[in-house]
Amino acid sequence: MAVAATAIPRDGAPAGGGAVPLGDAEFRFLRDFVHAHCGIALGEHKRQLVQGRLARRLRALQLPDYAAYCALLRSDPDGELGELASAISTNVTAFFREPHHYELLENELLPRWLERKRRDGGRLRLWSAGCSTGEEPYALAMVLAEALERHGATDVDAKILATDLSPQALETARNGVYPLDRLDGIGDERRHRWMLRGAGEYEGYACVHPRLHELVTVQPLNLLHDWPMRGPFDAIFCRNVVIYFDQPTKQRLIGRYAALLPPGGHLFLGHSESLHGISDDFELIGRTVYRKRA
Ligand SMILES: C[S@@+](CC[C@H](N)C(=O)[O-])C[C@H]1O[C@@H](n2cnc3c(N)ncnc32)[C@H](O)[C@@H]1O
Repeated sequence: MAVAATAIPRDGAPAGGGAVPLGDAEFRFLRDFVHAHCGIALGEHKRQLVQGRLARRLRALQLPDYAAYCALLRSDPDGELGELASAISTNVTAFFREPHHYELLENELLPRWLERKRRDGGRLRLWSAGCSTGEEPYALAMVLAEALERHGATDVDAKILATDLSPQALETARNGVYPLDRLDGIGDERRHRWMLRGAGEYEGYACVHPRLHELVTVQPLNLLHDWPMRGPFDAIFCRNVVIYFDQPTKQRLIGRYAALLPPGGHLFLGHSESLHGISDDFELIGRTVYRKRA
């Protein structure tokens, strides 16, 4: 990778003081790059935000200005894409965020699916697409592990795929270690069963139970690029991800989800997301829960 020789001071300020300015040409390049690779439309009003968020990246890479950062993106687009996307989007997530989705899964969907899998055979597959730091797939894994036991279905081949494009988020997701104050969304019983409190250097942290690691596979994946998996999935959770995408990108993505779901397969979106005007392949069956039409 070609990195410009002039390093900037550690606080990110150029020699004359103040923030490194993001010029017109660099903003246009970044806007087009982000749109092409992340599906995110950055209007002019986002210029300050982009400048602020990327200032840290410039410091980390010891680059003097945004022209050098754009040169890096040109020379190694895939290498820097995840970092760029994490800098301009948010990784905010939580265990059992939007709890009604987990209740539907536990009380209605899993009992039905597991009964069918036990009767007819077949695998059970869930996908947490845009899993961020892993709280979503591990919460799904708690519900799934309990359902497998409760319904005498531990022999069913059940797995959760968890994907994201942010390298830092994926590292946390892979480790499955969280500060204790991040566990608030998990009820007491589940917290005791599935989160193991750390000691010594891990005091103040808890890690997920090995059984949850067994159920969850964490993989890097840009939702806008090619996908290695063929499906089918019983359900796809793509919550609070498409909110950043423009309409054509959403339409393409939802069409690709539809192709990986069988008729009757479920798609879960985030609380402020909807398929209205985006896809006719699904019917709304609950709060931001969609079922693929036959
Ligand atoms: C706000 S978090 C949502 C996390 C979780 N699904 C939830 O609802 O709590 C959005 C995640 O989507 C990821 N993301 C955004 N664009 C993506 C893309 N093109 N491919 C894969 N992941 C993407 C971000 O890296 C971020 O971790």
